[in-house]
Amino acid sequence: MTTNSPIDMLRAEHRVIERALDLLLALTRADELDVDAGRDAVAFLRGFADELHHGKEEHRLFPLLEERGLPRHAGPLAVMLHEHEQGRGAIAAMDAALDAGDATAFKRAAEGYVALLRDHIAKEDGVLFPMADSMLDDPTRARLTDEFAQVNQELGKRGAELRERVEALAEAMNLPPTAASSHGGMCGFGGCGGH
Ligand SMILES: [Fe+2]
Repeated sequence: MTTNSPIDMLRAEHRVIERALDLLLALTRADELDVDAGRDAVAFLRGFADELHHGKEEHRLFPLLEERGLPRHAGPLAVMLHEHEQGRGAIAAMDAALDAGDATAFKRAAEGYVALLRDHIAKEDGVLFPMADSMLDDPTRARLTDEFAQVNQELGKRGAELRERVEALAEAMNLPPTAASSHGGMCGFGGCGGH
């Protein structure tokens, strides 16, 4: 599907995030904690899932929805914002576990993060994004698409490096390819669509 919908850009990023979640779970199931791989996966999730993707939602999309009447402190936006915060807590817990070389704590934090994000993504894909789609007019969509492209540009190189590392780790661990990996789902992070 070729589209310039900013909401579809966010959906495509979800597929990339799910790939990193699969990797994270695979790391927790290995016999020994691979601290370096864990750090790479967490760095990717912090950079891509939180700073880039949640950043777009919190700073660009949600304010537009608020302007159109969706409350920030109740309903879907409040839930999404709360879950973003919970995710940051889990990322900090994974960092602390990696620093301590504590495989049990890493597993607990990683499993919590994966469950949280999968549920969060399902809610956005199924509820918030269709709502957002119906609330934005064409000029606003076009503006948001440009803003997202700008954000991708700013973070592109670092993001591309992180993404390559996650993909290499996933391949090394024999995770089956996904749509995001086999179709160059880097579109969300400066890896495609540049010409
Ligand atoms: Fe999202």
